[in-house]
Amino acid sequence: MSEQSFQTLGEFIIDKQEDFLYSTGELSRLLSAIRLASKVVNRQVNKAGIANIIGKAGNENIQGEEQQKLDVLANEIFIEALSQREVVCGIASEESDDFIEIQASCNAHLSKYVVLIDPLDGSSNIDVNVSVGTIFSIYRRVSEPGTPVILEDFLQKGVNQIAAGYVVYGSSTMIVYTTGNGVNGFTLDPSLGTYYLSHPNMMFSRTGKIYSINEGNYIKFPQGVKDYIKYCQREEEDRPYTSRYIGSLVSDFHRNMIKGGIYIYPSTSQSPNGKLRLLYECNPMAFLAEQAGGKCTDGFQRIMEIQPTELHQRVPFFCGSYDMVEKAEAFMREA
Ligand code: AHG
Ligand code: MN
Ligand code: MN
Ligand code: MN
Repeated sequence: MSEQSFQTLGEFIIDKQEDFLYSTGELSRLLSAIRLASKVVNRQVNKAGIANIIGKAGNENIQGEEQQKLDVLANEIFIEALSQREVVCGIASEESDDFIEIQASCNAHLSKYVVLIDPLDGSSNIDVNVSVGTIFSIYRRVSEPGTPVILEDFLQKGVNQIAAGYVVYGSSTMIVYTTGNGVNGFTLDPSLGTYYLSHPNMMFSRTGKIYSINEGNYIKFPQGVKDYIKYCQREEEDRPYTSRYIGSLVSDFHRNMIKGGIYIYPSTSQSPNGKLRLLYECNPMAFLAEQAGGKCTDGFQRIMEIQPTELHQRVPFFCGSYDMVEKAEAFMREA
């Protein structure tokens, strides 16, 4: 097949707009803004080594993480693209202390969507030229249109998501997203700057053979996770499984969705809520996983049913092929 025979992301968005799901065109414009911002970030990621943008920015984000230069840059690029186009009324980001109200014009207040974003996921991998990503999550505001956004617009359960997706800046750059009607993946042709539908209707296989977890933290894991890891390593039936851990959630998730597998970032003795952020990382990935036939929990409870209480909240995270997540949960219950 040649490029001419693939549907472009732009065509796909317009086609889907006719779905009863989102007919006003507002969500289409929002998705187009994300598509554009992702291309700008992609350009920066691609030339990071020669553009003096690798390394630390010299400050910490509100969660106490050292920000990389590209964390800051990607955050600015997405916020600018979304606010200039007036396609959202508010933005919350891993890299911004508080949520941002879009005041560009009165019109912006009439926009009904808020976006939550992890502008650069896996940022510790930039300096070593390993895949990084962007994760986004879209909700309809709960406050009155035409008024400034409030915290409650962002602290919604994942089940309320209208759309979610990620960009993986990998050996090729892809955007993968859902609007609640399956998951589709688009690959960027960098010479044309166009995304093409390359992975229609992506699905997790029911089970898989890959487990992804930072095993260096083994000693700090809860007993249920330790037991599950030993189960993965036992020589029995289709085991031992293969261990794969990139250290960029987006890339680890993407591989597991294509090949079948489980990703775990559990609680640890030092971090009882784990590391990953409920609003910017776990909920969007959970929406994608469930739309692709997978499962996503905190070890006991469905991620998307957790009521968030703060913007930068963290939560333990078990995500991937349905039967594998169920098995890990069984070990958690038993321990
Ligand atoms: P971010 O770069 O957005 O802060 O996210 C990093 C996350 C996630 O991408 C990855 O899976 C995880 O941190 C890796 O953590 P460890 O280095 O503790 O394994
Ligand atoms: Mn970070
Ligand atoms: Mn992240
Ligand atoms: Mn990040």
